Amino acid sequence: MKKRILKTTVEVYASEKELSLVDQKLLKKAKQALKKSYSPYSNFKVGAAILLNNGKMMSGSNQENASYPIGICAERVLLSTASTLQSKVPIVTMAITYHNERGGNNIPIAPCGMCRQAIAEYESIVDQSIRLILGGETGEIYVIEKAADLLPFGFSGVHLQ
Ligand code: THU
Repeated sequence: MKKRILKTTVEVYASEKELSLVDQKLLKKAKQALKKSYSPYSNFKVGAAILLNNGKMMSGSNQENASYPIGICAERVLLSTASTLQSKVPIVTMAITYHNERGGNNIPIAPCGMCRQAIAEYESIVDQSIRLILGGETGEIYVIEKAADLLPFGFSGVHLQ
């Protein structure tokens, strides 16, 4: 028997002011996308924005439904939009942020497991890592170089072969 250790490295920035200008711009776009969140059931707004290889940015937000499981997270709304409009276009970075009506918006968001799975598959299909910028309204920002690092030992198409 041998043991395999799976490691994840997270860069921790004290605030968004420490980010590069382009990262700040992307996070700002994610914050603007919060306005388009439809989340009357959870009152938890999530905004996401992506930077494409050609420098363009796109954004998305969570969209809920009275039939709760129908709701879709901001990250997957955005990935679907991007790949519908531009057929699995390579993504350099995705910024994700949130606004919780209950308050306490100062810890970086943690993308849900379903979104980690979706982003990791996008990376592997396009064969390009997606950098993640995870923020809240204020406080520290986490940056992860490759989304799949947030899903160690993940399920993939390889298992279906
Ligand atoms: N949500 C996202 O949009 N992304 C995540 O990574 C976590 C959760 C949404 C789903 C639901 O509309 C609300 O946040 C509360 O779970």
